[in-house]
Amino acid sequence: KQAERGGYAHFMLKEIMEQPDVWGDCLLGRIHEDQVVPKEIGLTPELLTRVKRIQIVAAGTAYHAGLIGKSLIERLARVPVNVDVASEFRYAHPILDKDTMVIAISQSGETADTLACLRMAREQGVFTYSITNTVGSTVARESDAVAYTLAGPEIAVASTKAYTTQILVLTLLALALAQVHGNPRPDLVRRMLQLPLLGHKVLDRMNQGIESMAQRLAKTHDVFYIGRGLDYALAMEGQLKIKEISYLHAEAYAAGELKHGTLALIEEGTPVVAIVTEREVADKTVSNILEVKARGAEVWGIVDDWLPSTLPIDHRIAVPIEEPLLAPVLAAIPLQLLAYYTAVARGHDVDQPRNLAKSVTVE
Ligand code: G6P
Repeated sequence: KQAERGGYAHFMLKEIMEQPDVWGDCLLGRIHEDQVVPKEIGLTPELLTRVKRIQIVAAGTAYHAGLIGKSLIERLARVPVNVDVASEFRYAHPILDKDTMVIAISQSGETADTLACLRMAREQGVFTYSITNTVGSTVARESDAVAYTLAGPEIAVASTKAYTTQILVLTLLALALAQVHGNPRPDLVRRMLQLPLLGHKVLDRMNQGIESMAQRLAKTHDVFYIGRGLDYALAMEGQLKIKEISYLHAEAYAAGELKHGTLALIEEGTPVVAIVTEREVADKTVSNILEVKARGAEVWGIVDDWLPSTLPIDHRIAVPIEEPLLAPVLAAIPLQLLAYYTAVARGHDVDQPRNLAKSVTVE
């Protein structure tokens, strides 16, 4: 068993550590001469041109990847995107039309609710596209087009490498859409190829400190995650990770929304994880950090290297973010490790958390 885990204590840790190499596998052949190659993500320029709107459906971690995808597609390609939790979407009497592409994101490719949404879209004659890790899965077989995340088997129930590769495929899709919609970003496409290297850099840095920070977190009861834009979507995944395996109560909030209620819960010593990689709104998030600090919060900051070290955070976890639009996969690593080490410190079965299943094939 230890051998299967490549010498790591848990599959989850192995899968976290594998990420930079897995990203390389996911990107391989999909970029050529600073352009995304549409057919390598299962699409054609003609299909991409026809897409006027996108509806993403997914569950759990895949839903959180979808939120990142929405932000990237809207910002890079100016194509409007909705993202819904599959179990809601299927009963919401959704409005779909022929110019819409429905994207199902699913690690397993077998999640019952996600599959139901896909089938509903197909029945209405809408083009369906799936992003999955599982070759030959039902979601893959029943979609009009498919892109594989190529993360390799993910054993731990809490998703890590499947999540970051879903984000990479969505980034490729956003850039491919941007190409056909007249806003090509060769600079970003080129930078994507640096991600495996940067990922290794993040991992090398993380092993110092994050374990002891997690030991502190392990002794608390409630944790708040805040961020804006992509960082808010990341905050949602960060809080899910820690809930899933450490059983701490955690909530994610859009940093600017905190003062509309939740700030009342912040008291002396309340842990707040603040994510700051979005440079455009960094000063806004910093002012929200000051608000929670003023109420006594203990702040874990997952921040861009570029932010001054004088920031009022108690535990600084700096990540080398060279391009904010490509930050999510890099900033995901400390969030995953923080959840992992917190669960270990609390003595939980990290790979098999209570009440949860890797693949939910029943409604
Ligand atoms: C389960 C897993 C989650 C996962 C979700 C969606 O609840 O425990 O980790 O995010 O299903 O799974 P999928 O295979 O569709 O991505």
